[in-house]
Amino acid sequence: MGTVHFASDHAAVALRLELVERAEALGWNVVDYGPETNDSIDYPDQAQKLAQGMLGASEDLGVLVCGTGIGMSMAANRFDHLRAAAVSDLFSAAATRAHNNANVLCMGARTVGPGLAAEILTTFLATSFEGGRHQRRLDKFPAGLIRGDTHD
Ligand code: RB5
Repeated sequence: MGTVHFASDHAAVALRLELVERAEALGWNVVDYGPETNDSIDYPDQAQKLAQGMLGASEDLGVLVCGTGIGMSMAANRFDHLRAAAVSDLFSAAATRAHNNANVLCMGARTVGPGLAAEILTTFLATSFEGGRHQRRLDKFPAGLIRGDTHD
């Protein structure tokens, strides 16, 4: 088992702690960037902490949880070593590892119940990237950000 990095905002502290417990029970090492309280905190700051922690750790996986998982996924995908997916079902949890080589799972504490979220995490952690044609497709992702007015 490898290492999973976790961070949340105030909206998902309880869910994050449950997911940390699940990952540890499955034998994964955990790095947790908090927060410890429900005081309001900005999700991009938490995504950045996780991004910094995962720098140079290409085998590691990450979990970011906020109210919906959407803001966290948008913030995480600004970092070119992260491929984040907002997931709310088991099929996507497997597919985004197998096909997209997602290395960060994002979920919403206000949109996914804790039982389903733990199963989504379990599936995500148990699934490997298939490579092949999926790698060819990932290689077509442009490096860096593209300005809308200059992209073909
Ligand atoms: C915080 O209220 C909320 O906006 C945040 O947790 C997240 O849902 C953003 O995408």
